[in-house]
Amino acid sequence: MGEMLILGIETSCDETAAAVVADGKRILSNVVASQVEWHRKFSGVVPEIASRKHVELIGPVIEEALLEANVTLDDIDAIAVTRGPGLVGALLVGLGVAKGLAYATKLPLICVNHIEAHILANFLEHPKLKPPLIALVVSGGHTALVYMKDFGKYEVLGETLDDAAGEAFDKVAKFLGLGYPGGPIVDELAAKGDSEAINFPRAMIKTKNYDFSLSGLKTAVLNYVSQQRDKGKEIDIPDLCASFQAAVIDVQIYKTLRAVREKDVNKVVLAGGVAANKSLRERLKNEMNRQGKELFYPSHSLCTDNAAMIACAGYYRVHRSCLPPAIGGRQTGEFKEERVCPLDANAEPNLSLIDEV
Ligand code: KG4
Ligand code: ZN
Repeated sequence: MGEMLILGIETSCDETAAAVVADGKRILSNVVASQVEWHRKFSGVVPEIASRKHVELIGPVIEEALLEANVTLDDIDAIAVTRGPGLVGALLVGLGVAKGLAYATKLPLICVNHIEAHILANFLEHPKLKPPLIALVVSGGHTALVYMKDFGKYEVLGETLDDAAGEAFDKVAKFLGLGYPGGPIVDELAAKGDSEAINFPRAMIKTKNYDFSLSGLKTAVLNYVSQQRDKGKEIDIPDLCASFQAAVIDVQIYKTLRAVREKDVNKVVLAGGVAANKSLRERLKNEMNRQGKELFYPSHSLCTDNAAMIACAGYYRVHRSCLPPAIGGRQTGEFKEERVCPLDANAEPNLSLIDEV
């Protein structure tokens, strides 16, 4: 039996992406057209610009993904696409294109949850990784601590009550005039600073739940900067970045380790754009290793939005209910009906991890 080839399509935010992945693991191509240069001057994603750019880029990006993988649509076994969560106008572009392709080729259409895909990106590179595990999902739009009992079985332990982790990085960087997106810039500057220079609040670190709150920290940074300016004092940007970053990460690490204890698991995975953060990776890895436990995270390009993770999630979505597991070639008849999206599937901007995709 041949490998199962899935074409993944992702347009939930500001990256237009397509990828071809074999058996949920082997990446044959992973094309990402970043729209960052069109959003930069607004220091954030402008939804209408995102939708318009997706319309422009999605065709060439899919074509390139097939070309790079050295396959044609005839070799593809299924099309996986992000249905949510995300910006509705952006999601509709990918979903519309995926439906059109599925209709024309008669291939099955698999709808995917973007957050689940971020978690499953870890399985692309760590073939031996298996649930149960705790996932810390930290992206531009989401912050959540998730107990993954098995494929498709998730319990959301806690979420952010206000800003997402990446959003906090981006807002602080914007305020300091550092550039966009802020996460990687703050990460770099923080490496040169002292994380104990300024004592910012660790919001909700002592609460018994697994929720997070970051808007107070953002305000604390703003207040600190204006106080220093009022006093005519110069601000040490690396120290400020390091202290802010430590305040974000301390709470995340503390709550993740508590979830590990409570759920009695020995694996943690990081997911989402902020999973690229060097300090978060390093500190959580040390803590886990100290306890004889393991931390996994995707390589940099698989942390931020991409379509390889969408194809991977599509594969597990089919496989967790579609036995026997080995499906190869164009055997669409082997897909269980309920795992294939109907052609009237709609985008779901607030899709939750526990919703049926
Ligand atoms: O997952 P992602 O590509 O998009 C969403 O689904 O939201 O995450 C993008 C976010 C941005 O807010 C960006 O600033 C942040 O991830 N980010 C980082 C780093 N690299 C990207 N945040 C902290 N440290 C980084 N190294
Ligand atoms: Zn994302």
